[in-house]
Amino acid sequence: MSDMLLDWKRDEMCGLVSQAQVGQTMTVMGWVDTRRDLGGLVFVDLRDRTGVMQCVFDQADFSEEQFAKVESIRSEFVLAIRGKVTKRSEDTVNPKIATGTIEIKATDLKILSTSQTPPFYIEDGVNVREELRLKYRYLDLRRPEMAKNLILRSKVAQIVRNYLTENGFIEIETPMLTKSTPEGARDYLVPSRVQPGKFYALPQSPQLFKQLLMVAGMDRYFQIAKCFRDEDLRADRQPEFTQIDMELSFVQEDDVMTINEGLIQQIFKGAWGVDLPAPFRRMPYREAMERFGSDKPDTRFGLELKDISDIARDSDFKVFASIVQNGGSVRGINVKGGSSQIARRELDALVEYCKQFGARGMAWINVKENELQSPIVKFFTEEQIQAILNRMDAEVGDILMFISDTSEDVVFDVLGHLRLHLAEKLHLIDENKLDILWVTEFPMFEYSEEEKRYVAKHHPFTAPMDADIPYLKTDPARVRAKAYDLVINGMEAGGGSCRIYDRDVQEQVFEALGFTPERAQEQFGFLLEAFKYGVPPHAGLAFGFDRLCMILAHASSIRDVIAFPKVQSASCPLTGGPDVVEEKQLQELHIACTLDEE
Ligand code: AMO
Repeated sequence: MSDMLLDWKRDEMCGLVSQAQVGQTMTVMGWVDTRRDLGGLVFVDLRDRTGVMQCVFDQADFSEEQFAKVESIRSEFVLAIRGKVTKRSEDTVNPKIATGTIEIKATDLKILSTSQTPPFYIEDGVNVREELRLKYRYLDLRRPEMAKNLILRSKVAQIVRNYLTENGFIEIETPMLTKSTPEGARDYLVPSRVQPGKFYALPQSPQLFKQLLMVAGMDRYFQIAKCFRDEDLRADRQPEFTQIDMELSFVQEDDVMTINEGLIQQIFKGAWGVDLPAPFRRMPYREAMERFGSDKPDTRFGLELKDISDIARDSDFKVFASIVQNGGSVRGINVKGGSSQIARRELDALVEYCKQFGARGMAWINVKENELQSPIVKFFTEEQIQAILNRMDAEVGDILMFISDTSEDVVFDVLGHLRLHLAEKLHLIDENKLDILWVTEFPMFEYSEEEKRYVAKHHPFTAPMDADIPYLKTDPARVRAKAYDLVINGMEAGGGSCRIYDRDVQEQVFEALGFTPERAQEQFGFLLEAFKYGVPPHAGLAFGFDRLCMILAHASSIRDVIAFPKVQSASCPLTGGPDVVEEKQLQELHIACTLDEE
């Protein structure tokens, strides 16, 4: 039975009671973290999101009836405990917790709520299926490490609001029920009841609205915005996620980057207490690809790519030679000391690993003391081998790994993945290092094999670099964009660009993207219309807020910094969503489910 009447006031949160309060009588409230019954003496650790407070119930201080109540206490009961704050004896001090030198000698107790035995222990480092944790997320969030993450998230949001407000930004909300925005993922659609057959799209980002706000003269906008993208889930991807979204008028790339370096500095200062040096390093996209095989390079470790195409072109190794002659490349990485760490059969597994990403194979040279073990060296002359070893900085004990393909994208992608895979396998990443850099000069377009046309790498309103505007018509693949991504520890933490504000350039970009004027009108007519009425030069950026919090919390997944995330199948184990709905609801929306017929 619980005590129905809450006629006590809480004086302090559990983790905040301090030595200075010794001698005071106070009331604390919270959940039973642990309970130890020593017979006549019951210890209860009372928990709330700030920590735990040890409370002691001595039988001598209670009536028989009251002490029976004390003895009935179980884990996760919600209690109100009144008592006197006292110093713990030396031998019972717990240095691991903030309240470890004190305890409350209880004189009175209310059981506010009882609890069933929870499906898992409420403690840090629990080893239970994530699905179960998410089903009982409200219990999972009682665990100190999870509570800490949400508190951190709230703190970071506060820092963002303060910093941006101080820098002249205003916070503006944009609609959730809208028309499809061009961020490249699949939309979540919402059927309209009043306009049968028509659908809203949930925003993939507030992109178009924030540009309209610039046309509206808002000058600097920001929003901590929910975004929705129907794409495959990963550790750093959720279908519903949050951006720190911003847009600024009358600025260039440098202004946006500088403001955001300041923001990132403030965030790390507030969350970790560290002073990050600024400006951050900048690396052009091309360099990132050539050295790291990725547009979000993790530069905390080496294993950099080297190009040996020129040497391979003239070799008798037909595979390499013909690929290079056909415009492809041969590139490799040197796994320093790999010879003693990677067994022959592991090499075979690595070849298979590379195939997953589209490689046709992976060639390797194991540099031994007196020989080169390798399936390919026989095809090269002495000089060619020497040239390769020199290019790769090879020493005895190294293993060299090579990928060749007519598509440079494949070569980069495979080596980029292999590099990360090896770094993890060989423990090359110093987790205490913080690696922040801007990647700049992205290509404007990438060719989509699926659509057989160029698609925007960022979005269709990204401005081309001034020097490359002439190539919009003649050689779109060569055009670089005024776009920038912020990469932290090999993860894309944010990205943005300067936008096109010139109609002529915008038309050329649409043309390069294969948009007819009618199609452009149909999709973004409202933006193009707005652009007829005076557009300030503008630029912006959005950070993945969940991703930033994940880094700050040292979490391995963004799910750990989101209160109610979704699992792999994009469903919510807690609510059971998505779910079937009543036939009547579907009828109102003029929607028929064809699933059964299929
Ligand atoms: P972009 O598409 O690069 O840019 O998104 C900005 C940042 O949002 C984060 N992000 C995600 N986080 C979690 N789950 C996802 N599914 C997910 N998708 C993206 C990433 C990414 O860097 N409107 C532009 C920004 C601009 O140009 O101003 C945009 O949305 O950290």
